[in-house]
Amino acid sequence: MASNGRKMKLGGFCGGSYHQAGWRHPAADTAFAQDINAWIALAKKLEAAKFDMIFVADTASPSDAEIPEVFRYSSAGNNLEPMTLLAAISQHTTHLGLGATIPTSYRPPYDAAREVLSLDVISGGRVGWNIVTGISPDDAAQYADQAFVPQEERYARGEEFIDVVLKLWAALEPGAYPRDKDGGIYKDTDKIRMIHHAGKYYNVRGPLKGIASPQERPLLIQAGQSPEGRAMASRVAEAIFTAQSNFEPAKAFRDDIRARAAVWGRDPEHVKVMPGVVIVVGESRQEAEDKWAELEGLIDLRSARARLELALKGFDLSGYDLDAPFPEVPEESIVSRGRTHVEAAKREGLTLRQVLIRSSGSNAHLSAVGTARDIADVIQHWFEDGACDGFNLMPAINPLSLEEAIDKVVPELQRRGIFRTEYEGKTLRENFGVPMAPIPLLG
Ligand SMILES: Cc1cc2nc3c(=O)[nH]c(=O)nc-3n(C[C@H](O)[C@H](O)[C@H](O)COP(=O)(O)O)c2cc1C
Repeated sequence: MASNGRKMKLGGFCGGSYHQAGWRHPAADTAFAQDINAWIALAKKLEAAKFDMIFVADTASPSDAEIPEVFRYSSAGNNLEPMTLLAAISQHTTHLGLGATIPTSYRPPYDAAREVLSLDVISGGRVGWNIVTGISPDDAAQYADQAFVPQEERYARGEEFIDVVLKLWAALEPGAYPRDKDGGIYKDTDKIRMIHHAGKYYNVRGPLKGIASPQERPLLIQAGQSPEGRAMASRVAEAIFTAQSNFEPAKAFRDDIRARAAVWGRDPEHVKVMPGVVIVVGESRQEAEDKWAELEGLIDLRSARARLELALKGFDLSGYDLDAPFPEVPEESIVSRGRTHVEAAKREGLTLRQVLIRSSGSNAHLSAVGTARDIADVIQHWFEDGACDGFNLMPAINPLSLEEAIDKVVPELQRRGIFRTEYEGKTLRENFGVPMAPIPLLG
């Protein structure tokens, strides 16, 4: 299938080396996550290359602080707080979308509504909120009054959280502040309203302290692929981030999401599915493969095991022989990314060690290791043949691999006519091509 002029969406997944050992590569900037000037420089490059957005993943807490040998090794969990970070970046960019995660499980929806909207106003309507429920028990540990919320309840709570945020935003209309000095009317009470939400998890009166979004509503993003995650995404998400490593399951995932969105009365064209792709670019295929092999030699297997255990809902892998076939994992532990690893192990007869090495490389995302043309070929195939609407480009080595993708892969996609050469509008919603449409509420 050709693209028929359809253009793909591109996000830059920023903050650190996505390959677990990427930070140890000689070219990696290991201080990037806390260096605002490095973030701004990379954001400007993404904007010059016409990316839809920079994306900042986040969790409330670093993971594995209670396992010193894992905590010591891992470069993850060390980025600046996304809202303050993106506020700074917004002042050095004009068109680049600003995507960030705010999880729904522990903090109240009122705060998220206010923070996201405030950033949206500061940036002139360029914000995308990545709604996740968060899989890490470490997050709960940072909130003294909260216990770790199991998956099914996380999603029930998350669904209501989103509805509260949407109600708060919708209760603020343009023109809410006439600021009429002569008449003595600062606020128009028809346009800034209370919501009186009384639900299972939240009671929120409103109104929100804020003004209407410059893009009518910040873009809603969701990441998660369990059945509960898909249900949430298909109801609310305008962009969906997903970890997919094979074409057929990726296409099935997108087909499923589009069908579910249609059931909600939504236009499937306005639900953009964006898998991640971990990238290593080489002048030759061999050079890129050598770089990937070099990274594999730097993996710490204990740390890799901790990450895999998290994806398997805490299933303990410590007693198993690294070089024996991948162990049997109980069905209840096999969800989302964990499923990708277990199925690949079965399909290809992998050992535990091989699964650990593979999961360290791309964490169940697609990996594209080759020349710019090789990588563009894969991206084009997935896009044109219905497995996605675009990608989040993830640097194996940060920021080098993303810069190489910007310099070499993006121009190739533009030459092929499948990625924009100019921004279409000013706000993220305009550039993303998803017009404002009502989101069905649950309560
Ligand atoms: C591209 C991508 C980005 C994600 N970003 C975050 C993130 O920033 N914070 C987080 O807690 N989880 C993040 N996740 C994880 C998911 O939100 C979710 O917790 C995980 O996939 C398990 O949910 P599920 O069981 O519904 O699949 C991300 C997942 C993907 C695929």
